[in-house]
Amino acid sequence: MSTFRAPRGTRDLLPAERAAFRRLETIATDLARRYGYHELDTPIFEQAAVFERGVGAVTDVVEKELFRIAPRTEEAESWALRPEPTAGIVRAYIQHGMQTWPQPVKLTMTGPMFRYDRPQAGRYRQFWQFDIEVIGDPGPAVDAEIIELGRAFYREAGLGSVEVLLNSIGDGACRPAYIESLRAWYQPHAEELPQLERDRLERNPLRLLDSKDPAMAELNAGAPRITDALCGPCRDHFSAVREHLHALGIGYRLEPAVVRGLDYYTRTAFEFYLPGRDGQQQALGGGGRYDGLVELLGGRPTPGIGFGLGLDRIVLALNAAGAGDAVREPGPVAVVIGADPGATAIRLRVATDLRAAGIAARADLGQRRLARQLESAAREHAHFVVIIGDELADGNVQLKDLDAGSQQLVALDDLARKLLQGDRSHRHGKGGA
Ligand code: HAM
Repeated sequence: MSTFRAPRGTRDLLPAERAAFRRLETIATDLARRYGYHELDTPIFEQAAVFERGVGAVTDVVEKELFRIAPRTEEAESWALRPEPTAGIVRAYIQHGMQTWPQPVKLTMTGPMFRYDRPQAGRYRQFWQFDIEVIGDPGPAVDAEIIELGRAFYREAGLGSVEVLLNSIGDGACRPAYIESLRAWYQPHAEELPQLERDRLERNPLRLLDSKDPAMAELNAGAPRITDALCGPCRDHFSAVREHLHALGIGYRLEPAVVRGLDYYTRTAFEFYLPGRDGQQQALGGGGRYDGLVELLGGRPTPGIGFGLGLDRIVLALNAAGAGDAVREPGPVAVVIGADPGATAIRLRVATDLRAAGIAARADLGQRRLARQLESAAREHAHFVVIIGDELADGNVQLKDLDAGSQQLVALDDLARKLLQGDRSHRHGKGGA
């Protein structure tokens, strides 16, 4: 019988990688809390229409990549796994009347997203995002604040060199005319375009600009730029965003190719890349303003802006930079071992008491020789071993500091206090119980 494997494009996050994810989640949520954000969770599946209408029916994400759930006969609804969080969060904003809360509503969410894409390095069918949204603030100051928050995250995570690529993609007033001029500009070259791009010319010409096909680079360099075609209000908004970024000392690069793959965007659009990696579909995060989305999903007209961080890609980037090792799953502080392999009950009780006192401790419950128990504690990078032997008759145990190599006799009643003290000095780099 063939063995089972995780589905193509998905993977198991084993403990070392899970610890790296946990670290990023903690950095991001702590940071966002300092800016006044609150966490929420939405379901990982929604009515497919939330994405069809919100993200846009003529986007790769919906047209090609949506994981639709096979309908059950008793359900009339059609469901899909979420390909991204923003549409679901906006659905929740409307459903729970959040427009009556103090505005803006500032939310974050972390979780898996699903896109039926062709799997490759850094592109998965199930991937994790940390997502952040501000709903109810038209900007421009908050646009700069949220970009600054993104930069602060990468810096704290250990990727201080991450660059901001910035663009404005206009709004309903100026974009349609720009798209027509774009179409007119590409039309004479239609025959030379690769098939995918020819298709985009028909259906969504804006996406031609972020084509990763090398054959398109020259053509795209000469294409009309949306920043030259913005209407007055969009132009003013964009220059005010840039002024605020300047005031915050946040560097950025203007990049007309940042058009984003989801239809809900208006005005400010941005992506985060490692230097030199922007041509390779390896954005570490991206987002922008979506002033029409709340209305599109049935709410009152309400502006919004946000971004998503691609946690999988950030972990890959940290590993590639050699910074991945910094994250190690913390081992137990103490392992309780014993001279009598069979005396598991007393080892278990001592470890249970230590845990109740707040100490990360485990008992060696295998019935094996003392030397083997000691070896396994050292392999786990435990700081201490508690050795239970003949001294127990007098209420004592041996406490061995594995880093310092020292050992002392300790009264069982005093063990937790000694370990807490020793753990504290270990964490402050002094060593010794
Ligand atoms: P997005 O650019 O589609 O935006 O995704 C955000 C980030 O998720 C990307 O920059 C990338 O790091 C990561 N990502 C996307 N697809 C994959 C994949 N297949 N495998 C691994 N990582 C991936 C959004 O999803 C918007 N909802 C962001 C946003 C929030 N805009 C406004 N608010």
